[in-house]
Amino acid sequence: MSPKITSKSILSALSKVQEPELHKDLVSLNMIRDLEIKNDTVSFTIVLTTPACPLKATIEMAAREAVISVAGVKSVEIKMDANVPVDSKIRGQLQPPARNVIAVASGKGGVGKSTISVNLAVALAIAGGRVGLLDADIYGPNIPMMMGVHEIPEPVKNKLIPAVAFGVKLMSMGFLVKPGQPLIWRGPMLNSAIRQFLSDVEWGELDYLIIDLPPGTGDVPLSLVQALPLSGVIIVTLPQAVSLEDASRGLEMFRTLEVPILGIIENMRGDFFGSGGGEDLARIVKVPFLGAIPMEQSVRISSDTGVPIVASQLNSAAVQSLISIAEQVAARVSVIALEQNNAPKINLA
Ligand SMILES: Nc1ncnc2c1ncn2[C@@H]1O[C@H](COP(=O)(O)OP(=O)(O)OP(=O)(O)O)[C@@H](O)[C@H]1O
Ligand SMILES: [Mg+2]
Repeated sequence: MSPKITSKSILSALSKVQEPELHKDLVSLNMIRDLEIKNDTVSFTIVLTTPACPLKATIEMAAREAVISVAGVKSVEIKMDANVPVDSKIRGQLQPPARNVIAVASGKGGVGKSTISVNLAVALAIAGGRVGLLDADIYGPNIPMMMGVHEIPEPVKNKLIPAVAFGVKLMSMGFLVKPGQPLIWRGPMLNSAIRQFLSDVEWGELDYLIIDLPPGTGDVPLSLVQALPLSGVIIVTLPQAVSLEDASRGLEMFRTLEVPILGIIENMRGDFFGSGGGEDLARIVKVPFLGAIPMEQSVRISSDTGVPIVASQLNSAAVQSLISIAEQVAARVSVIALEQNNAPKINLA
């Protein structure tokens, strides 16, 4: 007769499986749910901290191996699920509309912030996250075009209703002004526009809100950082020296504002702009390097035609890199949120 399988023996086996990013085991992290033992079959759910976990397959395999080696177990059924932790940082004055808020910034214009924001949002949504995308580039909103949507539904009860495209909720100044109409903002107006995008939009429940910032170190990032807690910011740069100088300026601004830097992305790597600069910068300023995206014509075409490249059928180097970046960002943000939640609470009342 085969030995009796107990929950205790299964949990003890699973407590030897580490979550590689969080450096703790699956049981201590409370990631094992719905454990059931039927005869010689063990089934359970692993609840990760992000549906876009880059190590999902690795964790699943390690858990399977650990359980199958428990005496008596013949088969293991694992369901993968995710519950994105809330970043409970207390800063800013607005209640954040998402569990985690991620800004995409650069020191310089035209480096690919909007392209990356769009693809990051869509990749996280494809992975199963609830994602919002806010176009905070109120002077030159590009998100509607890149996502192929040009209007939002009628407001309901004085709240703006975001458009939905590729599973992502979108809001942009582009929906509120006529095409081609120039926008002139003075400081206080701009400040209130940003606030309204956060408080007067019916975002619903979101795991991630991605914010596409205008270029440079102007008033928008400042307003934003004062308005709500950011989980972190991603800095986009081109591989060449001039862009790097701008990127480090942007990076310093966020450091001064005490916004965590999630990492640096080097965009448009290739023959034209060179390669390696963003990676060097990350090393010098000691922040994570999230990856390089090659210069590819298909990236530009997809932006122009309103179908983000990660949602297309293509599987180019740029697509793979964008997906890997999205997974790393999701993983970093979970780590930050969990660290934050374990930190002593500061009472600002
Ligand atoms: N990896 C890439 N390969 C080819 N073209 C790219 C790539 N990344 C971005 N582009 C193209 O470069 C142009 C600028 O990109 P994008 O608008 O995303 O930059 P931005 O930093 O948001 O610009 P701005 O500062 O004006 O807001 C777009 O036409 C976009 O399609
Ligand atoms: Mg842009």
